Amino acid sequence: MKVGFIQMEPKLLDLNANLSKAERLIKKAAAGGAKLVVLPELFDTGYNFESREEVESIAMQIPDGETTEFLAELSREHDVFIVAGTAERDEHGTLYNSAVITGPIASGYIGKYRKIHLFYREKLFFEPGNLGFRVFNIGMAKVGIMICFDWFFPEAMRTLALKGADIIAHPSNLVMPYAPRAMPIRALENRVFSITANRTGEERGLRFIGKSTIASPKAEVLAMGSEDKEEVGIVDINVKEARNKRINEFNDIFKDRKPGFYFI
Ligand code: ACM
Repeated sequence: MKVGFIQMEPKLLDLNANLSKAERLIKKAAAGGAKLVVLPELFDTGYNFESREEVESIAMQIPDGETTEFLAELSREHDVFIVAGTAERDEHGTLYNSAVITGPIASGYIGKYRKIHLFYREKLFFEPGNLGFRVFNIGMAKVGIMICFDWFFPEAMRTLALKGADIIAHPSNLVMPYAPRAMPIRALENRVFSITANRTGEERGLRFIGKSTIASPKAEVLAMGSEDKEEVGIVDINVKEARNKRINEFNDIFKDRKPGFYFI
């Protein structure tokens, strides 16, 4: 199964520019055979908001909003599952830093995740996610979703893996340098694949680090983006590798867990 990341530089508060850029890159990934592609966090809005009003001006409902409808249509047209970060405004006006998953099915829309661990000034605008960590069965794989700073909390990826995820889709807007080094280890700890799709560029003084990463259950870096270019990374993976949690004849990393000793 071919999977990919889309590394791009969104333009702050410019929905149309961001959707057309994403469309071009999604088409490129699908033409390269990718069946699952991951886009960055807040790919359609940009990241470094100054005020809640700015977020309100661009956030949309999921699934009844232009961004989800756009992704659903692309999924159907190009036979590809898409995970993408987007700003959500629910029916009560509450704002979430969310991700949506769409696929080549009749409705197009499959589900959403709301970011649980908010980073830095995101706390001024968004509410922490209230849907839990979610795994979506897309037939050829089970896909768990977490967003950017969630990676800093090992419990996030562990929870998704324990819920059966084979692949962790990780839309990101990374500014600290650590995740490209850490994510292969998270993938190893949980024996899953991970796809971190990061953005590039600079916004109001905040620089994003690029280096989108696809990692294997053995901590191999299967693909890594540059620091500053927009690009598509595609690799062929064997999803079954994520379903074998045994590392030798005596150890199974899930069955050997001792949760009674972990929590205080
Ligand atoms: C982040 O969570 N966007 C760093």
